[in-house]
Amino acid sequence: MKRIAVLTSGGDCSGMNAAIRAVVRAGLAAGAEVVGIQKGYHGIIDRHYEILDSRSVGNSLQRGGTFLQSARCQEMFDEPGQRLAADNLKGLGVEGLVVIGGDGSLNGGLALAKRGIRVIGIPASIDNDIRFTDMSLGVDTALNNIAYAVDCLKDTASSHDRAFVVETMGRNCGYLAVASAIACGAEATLIPEVSYELEEVCGLMRKRYQEGRSNSIVMVAEGAGNAQEIANQIKDKVGFEVRVMILGHYQRGGSPSVFDRLLGARFGVAAVEALLAGEHGKMVGLISSKLQLTDLEEVLTKGMRPIDPSMLQLARTLGI
Ligand code: F6P
Repeated sequence: MKRIAVLTSGGDCSGMNAAIRAVVRAGLAAGAEVVGIQKGYHGIIDRHYEILDSRSVGNSLQRGGTFLQSARCQEMFDEPGQRLAADNLKGLGVEGLVVIGGDGSLNGGLALAKRGIRVIGIPASIDNDIRFTDMSLGVDTALNNIAYAVDCLKDTASSHDRAFVVETMGRNCGYLAVASAIACGAEATLIPEVSYELEEVCGLMRKRYQEGRSNSIVMVAEGAGNAQEIANQIKDKVGFEVRVMILGHYQRGGSPSVFDRLLGARFGVAAVEALLAGEHGKMVGLISSKLQLTDLEEVLTKGMRPIDPSMLQLARTLGI
């Protein structure tokens, strides 16, 4: 394989640089030239790219974000854009493409695979909503970011007998909220996958304050409702101070955790090895600690990855 291209697309996450670096190093080691496409699929359409050598990925591993930059590309949802992208890649002499991104980005990869481009996807999204991988790139760092923020909030909440409603990202997936609720010892978590009665949450919080506890944390996934409205309702029903913290894009940045650095390295090398082995139209995922390839079609047609029921059970057992 003479030329491999790599791009990062959709919402950025920590660990993307580690994955790009691994693609570049593995590609070069196999004697291929590696092309870094800038700003996701826009870079293919606008022919915005650079040749990456070993030095161009130096000092990137520990940085959050993506040095190739990322974007959501509307053109890739339509046939003319997909055709142009495939033609441009062929014109560039690209024989294999590694797409690093979330479900929308992997859908773009699938569209290109259907147009004859050899594509391998790497799941990268803090949402952890992609099937056929236990963890997507960036999730662990996001959880560490959330844990740091909630630990800080607990300090100040305890000083004032306050409750906090903390909103996590995740789009329609509640993984970040549940996992961080367990990791941070939250009192409750509200997620889109499970219906909830706010009265129950209020009852729990009233009881805590009657018992003399000095703080309460409610983790709310962004898809489960408006954090400010939820806080207002809790405040009205319970009668003590409730503040809101919307963690927003803070969750996506920062130096990647060791887990994400290793995962990025493993995913990147595995993607190149898959291309060299003649695989295409697949995504590399981490299933039960092992790397596995799954057809992109299968990954993407079954909808969002459900939260592992054992994780929900764990939260319940812990009283969340
Ligand atoms: O998919 C990743 C994600 O961070 C979601 O959790 C969030 O809903 C969305 O992207 C935010 O998108 P943007 O960065 O375009 O505001």
